[in-house]
Amino acid sequence: MIVLIGGEKGGTGKTTISTNLAAMRALAGRDVLLIDTDPQGSANYWVQSRDDENITPRVACVQKFGKGLPKEVQDLAKRYQDIIIDAGGRDSVELRAALVVAEKVFIPIQPSQFDIWTLNQMDELVETSKAFNPDLQAKVIISRSSTNPSVHESEDTGKLLSDFLNLDLASVTIRDRIAYRKAAKDGLAVTELKPKDQKAVDEMESLYKEVFDDE
Ligand SMILES: Nc1ncnc2c1ncn2[C@@H]1O[C@H](COP(=O)(O)OP(=O)(O)O)[C@@H](O)[C@H]1O
Ligand SMILES: [Mg+2]
Repeated sequence: MIVLIGGEKGGTGKTTISTNLAAMRALAGRDVLLIDTDPQGSANYWVQSRDDENITPRVACVQKFGKGLPKEVQDLAKRYQDIIIDAGGRDSVELRAALVVAEKVFIPIQPSQFDIWTLNQMDELVETSKAFNPDLQAKVIISRSSTNPSVHESEDTGKLLSDFLNLDLASVTIRDRIAYRKAAKDGLAVTELKPKDQKAVDEMESLYKEVFDDE
């Protein structure tokens, strides 16, 4: 499975989601490769921290840039069971290139109007990519949503999504939790973090199922 975690905005949780899914996939015994296409290299740093701490299983990671990406990903897909691509937060060559080879793209957004506007462009990008990649599935994940029960921003954001023809809403919402930041710092998935934040574990496990369940 080739999964892309992408979007045109920074700070929405793309690297957090990519690294968690990669570690969980490796823990499930799969041969997984994380591809970092963001020049900031945060997924790559996460892997370095993981290696520095000798955490097993190792997560293989490569950095790839440029429009040759589809060919490289297709070659790598012969050697790995799963590929997770962490795309940078802008309308980059890499984002467009990855959309051509991905089977699924997940687009994390923060539940604010500003992020919704960027979805217009993602909807169009997905539409264009479908000309080359007709089976592409695109889902939006509401990410870094407030844990405050009185804040209904996720529901409101979900309703606005019905305007976009090429984008569905993922059934899980990822909330803003300290556990994600702690895990990221140490090169871990939240499922590996001690003490455990069960709510973070539950939501990441639901997302994992949604991403990989048909395998
Ligand atoms: N669900 C979350 N809860 C708490 N902090 C988060 C969450 N997702 C991301 N963060 C933090 O927000 C910042 C940006 O997240 P990151 O995953 O790097 O976003 P992106 O890759 O989209 O730029 C990081 O400091 C990260 O630790
Ligand atoms: Mg990132």
